[in-house]
Amino acid sequence: MGTMQEDEGLGFGSSLPVPSVQEIVRNDANNIPERYIKNPEDRPKGSDICLVSDDIPIINLYMLSKGDEDERRKLDIACQEWGFFQIINHGADGVLTKMKAAVEEFFDLPLSEKKKYGMAANDVQGYGQGYVVSEDQKLDWNDLLFLITLPANFRNIKYWPLTIPGFKETIEEYAKEIQRVADEIFANLSLLMGVESDFLKQMHGDAKQGIRMNYYPSCARPDLVLGVSPHSDSSSITLLVQDDEITALQIKHKGAWVPVKPIPNAIVVNIGDVMEAWSNGRYKSIEHRAVTNVEKPRISAAAFVIPGNEVELNPLKTMVDDDGRPRIFKNGVKYIDYLRYTLAKKMEGKLANIEYLKLEN
Ligand code: OGA
Ligand code: NI
Repeated sequence: MGTMQEDEGLGFGSSLPVPSVQEIVRNDANNIPERYIKNPEDRPKGSDICLVSDDIPIINLYMLSKGDEDERRKLDIACQEWGFFQIINHGADGVLTKMKAAVEEFFDLPLSEKKKYGMAANDVQGYGQGYVVSEDQKLDWNDLLFLITLPANFRNIKYWPLTIPGFKETIEEYAKEIQRVADEIFANLSLLMGVESDFLKQMHGDAKQGIRMNYYPSCARPDLVLGVSPHSDSSSITLLVQDDEITALQIKHKGAWVPVKPIPNAIVVNIGDVMEAWSNGRYKSIEHRAVTNVEKPRISAAAFVIPGNEVELNPLKTMVDDDGRPRIFKNGVKYIDYLRYTLAKKMEGKLANIEYLKLEN
């Protein structure tokens, strides 16, 4: 099949072209166009941020892979109470560092060069901005390069910056490593949900992995803009690698925004909407956002694991029963229909999306 959907895009949806934020800042660091200034109620306020909270849970992947039951229990609690955790001891440090360097090299290219990989009108892959669906919506302070990375025959190589030496090899290697980490988590979550360890992996059908490489320019007025508006991910899980120093990602926890303090070389993992549905709501797909700062640009890379288009988001039978686990999620919603639904709307926070998967009551 090789080049399937080469020119039709992925059939997921599309995003309107808007200017590069990196260029706006390069031309005039004090210019914040109206389209980026959030409405007052949507601006990041210091008073919304929870400073006293505990940090999000830390999970040791090596222990998980050894079958350590305490570690698995920690994972269970992390996914129920936080929907977010940081993975250490994953054995991918080297490739992680290389990947960050490759992403930085991409965004360092001149605009004219980056534009060669610009999103086509019918695609969400490539260089551009995400979730732009109308001319008058407020925009995020972010440029991105989105690539389908696995399986190999779904890659659309026209979006890959092959002129950067080693870029393709590095991203390929990273994609494989991050999938290994994802599979270890799926195996453990399967056991926690009372099914065989390969169940969740099988449940994905023709799984895909897409990586969203984010560039957040510095901003003269971080109080007026957002790097990414509040949203939940429409993946099964997301594995994020972020800058080692800048704290920018915030997650909604007990009604407040909790900053995710970077641990160098850790991988931030979060439960996506698909896993929330499959687990019948046991594991939570949590709203998150990213803020900007005056001093430095920030780079991150989010790997989204998604099921095949035709896979249904039915809760596992083991997660629905008559005593204590009433069914919350519907049967019969196909992933592709859910994804198209979420991509057609601007990011409106989590509720609008996940309601689509729930039973009416
Ligand atoms: C995302 C995301 C957060 C970040 O790309 O879905 O939530 O810190 N990114 O870049
Ligand atoms: Ni996200």
